[in-house]
Amino acid sequence: MSTAHQSRFRLRGAATRIRKVVAAAAIGAVTAGTLVATAGTASAQTSLGDAAAATGRYFGVAVAEGRLGEQDYTATLNREFNSITAENSWKWESLQPARGYFDFSAADRIANHAQQQGMELRGHTLVWHSQLPGWVQNIGSADELRSVMYDHITTVMEHYKGQVRSWDVVNEAFEDGSSGARRNSVFQRVIGDSWIEEAFRIAREVDPDATLCYNDYNTDAWNTAKTQAVYNMVADFVSRGVPIDCVGFQAHFNSGNPVPENYHITLQNFADLGVEVQITELDIAGWGDSQAEQFGGVTLACLAVPQCTGITVWGVTDKYSWRAEDTPLLFDGNYNPKQAYYAVLDTLLNAGGGDGGDGGNGNASCTVTYTETQRWGDRFNGEVTVRAGDQPISGWSTTVTVQSPQKISATWNGNASWDSSGNVMTMRSTGGLPAGGQTTFGFTVMTNGNWAAPTLGSCVAS
Ligand code: XIL
Repeated sequence: MSTAHQSRFRLRGAATRIRKVVAAAAIGAVTAGTLVATAGTASAQTSLGDAAAATGRYFGVAVAEGRLGEQDYTATLNREFNSITAENSWKWESLQPARGYFDFSAADRIANHAQQQGMELRGHTLVWHSQLPGWVQNIGSADELRSVMYDHITTVMEHYKGQVRSWDVVNEAFEDGSSGARRNSVFQRVIGDSWIEEAFRIAREVDPDATLCYNDYNTDAWNTAKTQAVYNMVADFVSRGVPIDCVGFQAHFNSGNPVPENYHITLQNFADLGVEVQITELDIAGWGDSQAEQFGGVTLACLAVPQCTGITVWGVTDKYSWRAEDTPLLFDGNYNPKQAYYAVLDTLLNAGGGDGGDGGNGNASCTVTYTETQRWGDRFNGEVTVRAGDQPISGWSTTVTVQSPQKISATWNGNASWDSSGNVMTMRSTGGLPAGGQTTFGFTVMTNGNWAAPTLGSCVAS
């Protein structure tokens, strides 16, 4: 990517940040103190986009064009995110359903929304075997398919030239399983191995400023055949000067494809080839602590890799997710932020706040997040999630300060001690945590009429 291109997007990001801080302050009045307060460098009154921008990254979302008319959908989109991927409207079947007939109407509504909101755009996707119209799938001549591929890439990229930060030039070209083989798509069958690099060369010619990505799923665990096959292709492209700038990791996780423990190693290995890495379609099946931990872990993995420039989640709300039964996103069906949301936000804030955070510098670190879990007439329970950075830690401690006349009447899952005022409790671990691992401790606050949320000190790792 050229320097001019980079600075254009940086400037746009700064404007977005200022506008969104104002918007976040307005909603802060509603959310402050009700669910989550954070400590250390963290504050609950910001957005994913702003928190990511403070680390030099974007935080994006896949948008279903047909939902833009739903007020809560669009409000959440505008408040939280600073990059958009069209969930379906930029795919081949939507843009060129019949040969030579291009329809940009829905696609442009996405682009216009991004522009009005000062958001970046990810272009998804130029050449893919799926959501590909029948008229392309039935082409049997290599020359004809090449020329059709050339026309599609050229027309679409020209249309959005200068507006798209990154393009998924080729999507999902490898098989799953142990073969490491190319997927048996029409492009592979009819053109042969060279089709991918041909697509990248065309794309570079059309928009030399765009970041050109190869995008795939099940490429998260380092040692699998598919990850290795994609890595070998990218290494080969880089060594031969085929224009590739970036690898997108879709990151669709579930129990069959869990977040790998050393995700940042995979990302770093690709980045070491000299390409950007982006997490492009993140969603994680589950709920509660476990889902939050995994979302926090993926965020931390990106933060640990300087060349990981951004994260996109694959939808705004669970209710419209392409796998809604997995509840895999950051907002529930009523647009309430889930635990996973706070895990991501807190991880970003802790990285962006001070000295560059725990970005893989080898230092032991940890972060803490507070949540009120239960409330009665005279008291409430608080829970603190402690998360290790990208290094294992042997222990941690943090403080919890309540306001007189509040009193902490019970604690669990830690070793508590108090200062002489009785207002400052120090909680120490009973054990260590693996890299990216987390635990919780809890306590009951007798309010004696004061319902203020406690404040946390920084997390101290040992
Ligand atoms: C999915 C969309 O979310 C669905 O609405 C659609 O029916 C099918 O495609 N990998 C990709 C995305 O690259 O484009 C897919 O999006 C999800 C898997």
